Amino acid sequence: MEKWRNTHRLLRQSTKSLFDRRSHPNFQNSIHRSDSRFTHNFGRTCKPFRPYLEHQKWNPKTCFRPLRDHLEYPKTSMGACIGKSGKIQCRFFGSVATKTQRHPSFSSLNADDISYFKEILGEKNVIQDEERLSTANTDWMRKYKGSSKLLLQPRRADEVSQILKYCDSRCLAVVPQGGNTGLVGGSVPVFDEVIINTGSMNNIISFDKVNGILVCEAGCILENLASFLDNQGFIMPLDLGAKGSCQIGGNVSTNAGGLRFVHYGSLHGNVLGLEAVLANGTVLDMLGTLRKDNTGYDLKHLFIGSEGSLGIVTKVSILTPPKLSSVNIAFLACKDYLSCQNLLMEAKRKLGEVLSAFEFLDKESVDMVLNHLEGVRNPLPPSMHNFYVLIETTGSDESYDKEKLEAFLLRSMEGGLISDGVLAQDINQASAFWRIREGVAEALMKAGAVYKYDLSLPVEKMYNLVEEIRTRLGQSAEVVGYGHLGDGNLHLNISTPQYDDNILAQIEPFVYEWTSKHRGSISAEHGLGLMKANKIYYSKSAETVQVMASIKKLLDPNGILNPYKVLPHSLLSYN
Ligand code: FAD
Ligand code: MLT
Ligand code: ZN
Repeated sequence: MEKWRNTHRLLRQSTKSLFDRRSHPNFQNSIHRSDSRFTHNFGRTCKPFRPYLEHQKWNPKTCFRPLRDHLEYPKTSMGACIGKSGKIQCRFFGSVATKTQRHPSFSSLNADDISYFKEILGEKNVIQDEERLSTANTDWMRKYKGSSKLLLQPRRADEVSQILKYCDSRCLAVVPQGGNTGLVGGSVPVFDEVIINTGSMNNIISFDKVNGILVCEAGCILENLASFLDNQGFIMPLDLGAKGSCQIGGNVSTNAGGLRFVHYGSLHGNVLGLEAVLANGTVLDMLGTLRKDNTGYDLKHLFIGSEGSLGIVTKVSILTPPKLSSVNIAFLACKDYLSCQNLLMEAKRKLGEVLSAFEFLDKESVDMVLNHLEGVRNPLPPSMHNFYVLIETTGSDESYDKEKLEAFLLRSMEGGLISDGVLAQDINQASAFWRIREGVAEALMKAGAVYKYDLSLPVEKMYNLVEEIRTRLGQSAEVVGYGHLGDGNLHLNISTPQYDDNILAQIEPFVYEWTSKHRGSISAEHGLGLMKANKIYYSKSAETVQVMASIKKLLDPNGILNPYKVLPHSLLSYN
């Protein structure tokens, strides 16, 4: 009790400085959590508690999964080489160690193609301007860079249909692009693929307030949808650090997870319907708004998470939960990873229906944010803790929810699961806590080169991987571990001053083999993109991948949609 009271004292002391940085420009950053959902006052109370007596027994299972055959291109040195040997063009991406050859069956753009696109889209939606192309050719991490000479901006599904029909007939490869915040090199061309950006298809079509069903175009920015819904008394079931730039079509196409997954689950559950355009221009209307519909195969699921390789998503219908009035956020410190694990188990049990986020960061992740992002500070005394956990609860009864969380925190502190913690007292503190967690990706970018891994792993094993990688790399790299602990999703990131093949050789295939051995997934939420197209066998059987390739062949026989991504290059045959 005393310890928690101390924490409250600390919180009061920290309040001033947290307020002081409200006006910092970093807080205006477009990839920064909106405050719109915090509408109530975070009143402070310290309730009596019962001593925490329960101790969890951990029974870790070791499941060995034999490494399946996998196809991989030979490792290469860094840099890009285009058109080195006669007609063959190949690209090397240093951070990917993947050599990719431009497929000879694809045509190159000519003046007639440009004229055709201008005819259907109008001059201003056919972009050849170098600066705009350079941005669209480069991914968020500035790690993957294509050399497309054309960016198209359709405004409606019928325009997408005409573009694709034409490209298919000409064998022109295309890349669907939303907000270009993807982290696996899926959203930018590898060579000269035509970029089809969905940003101009950004209308909200309807909102059914009775059932909470939103229908909108694919180019709507996630944060704009969140603001629209906020005014209607609803929220998006999905929230992520890139919300200011990513689009709902991109979210659906990557099956993005994010910060609310622990509460609202996957987009496979929340997306009720969608409209998608196939490679040959066929518009598939699957834009249902029903909760239940068992008529035949539910084809929309093929497009959720297929990363633009099967079609271009043009409209989405999504189930949105009502906005609940009480949101509480605690930023906590734990002495070791086992305490984080036990805290998660307890939170699931004791906070149950109100638990809306359970995120974890190791000390190295927090240091990365503190060292590289301006205006961010640790609300807890520095250098004392090895792990941090951010817990959010969302419910409908302010005093009940708060009491519940505080009782849980006090018990956890008594039981030694938490070594220190602060509870946000207002919206600014809540944002400041989230800024630490959401800022890790941005801080890593500022620190230099980053090798990024997004893994699903059994929670009890997860952090062993971070430690093993740290030991392997020694002083040559900064290894950080953070992520969506509540979903068993680790973000393992390795930061170095610049990309280096020797470092990469120490990380891969070790990380993928380790993940496979522990029956994890090499992509929890970011997708495979270009980065992991050839690594799919670490998580999926050869038979499964073969069926995926058959589906791809059926829907996109010429392979024009996002080539070199998602599936192993060797499996992608072209007519
Ligand atoms: P893009 O990056 O443009 O595209 C991603 C993929 O989808 C590409 O393969 C592209 O070809 C395809 N695509 C895009 N639009 C369409 C369409 N309309 N039809 C068909 N294919 C399409 N991801 C998470 O899952 N959880 C997180 O918590 C998370 N946090 C992030 C935080 C930061 C700071 C950043 C930079 C990224 C984060 N991401 C996260 C990754 C990324 O934001 C998501 O994958 C997001 O869903 C991508 O949306 P986008 O509109 O930017 O898509
Ligand atoms: C996150 O959870 O912060 C995102 O998925 C981005 C990242 O992995 O860095
Ligand atoms: Zn994530």
